[in-house]
Amino acid sequence: MRKKFVAGNWKMHGNLATNDDLLQSVRAGVAGLAVEVAVCTPYPYLDQARKVLEGSNVAWGAQDVSEHVQGAYTGEVSAMMLGDFGCRYVIVGHSERRSYYGDTDAVVAAKFEAAMKAGLIPIFCVGETLDEREKNVTADVVTRQLDAVIARCGIASLAKAVVAYEPVWAIGTGRTASPEQAQEVHALIRDRVAREDAGVAAGLQILYGGSMKPGNAKELMAQTDIDGGLIGGAALVAADFIAICAAA
Ligand code: PGA
Repeated sequence: MRKKFVAGNWKMHGNLATNDDLLQSVRAGVAGLAVEVAVCTPYPYLDQARKVLEGSNVAWGAQDVSEHVQGAYTGEVSAMMLGDFGCRYVIVGHSERRSYYGDTDAVVAAKFEAAMKAGLIPIFCVGETLDEREKNVTADVVTRQLDAVIARCGIASLAKAVVAYEPVWAIGTGRTASPEQAQEVHALIRDRVAREDAGVAAGLQILYGGSMKPGNAKELMAQTDIDGGLIGGAALVAADFIAICAAA
């Protein structure tokens, strides 16, 4: 039985004062829940997250990472640096990185590898745009994104990673994939992995992300292949995030 996992993606939100409230509330609100929980904060607040969350059942992580180990890459942050701040997770391949910052499948695979080599758990995002869904190429897109990581890092690497299916048209739009639509793609992801390694597929946590809220979390996470959520907007409201964790 796979454990449920709920991860918050704060994106570029927050400040020292509001973060403190949010982190303290989440720490207290999910204590004792039988669910894995993490928050992915902006880089400058990782130390704050560590200070507030250390010793709790909430892990923390970052929202992106450099594919390079070190060097002349102004503005970049390495996986080893994230490790220095106690990060357990890092999001790679979020659609906002793919679409605004040019992260290609190859770059995402390199970031995935860099994270793994530093001992971090990648939360590896895949998902189609609205245009791709309407053209009926969702399966092709998601398979292509997955295959880039499998080709570079090997199927066994997915035993130490988390996959997040985030249909781009559902992110921050209030438009959630129906439980059936999400389940269909989650099953496709698990089947793709199972073709290479049934054991890895059976243990793989596949999160759904895209306007998950307290009101729809339970129904989504009740699907056979939905093992939790990657939460954007609702992760900024302590009560909502805690309610989603409780639903898991
Ligand atoms: P959302 O974002 O929950 O605000 O749709 C999810 C994400 O982008 O990870």
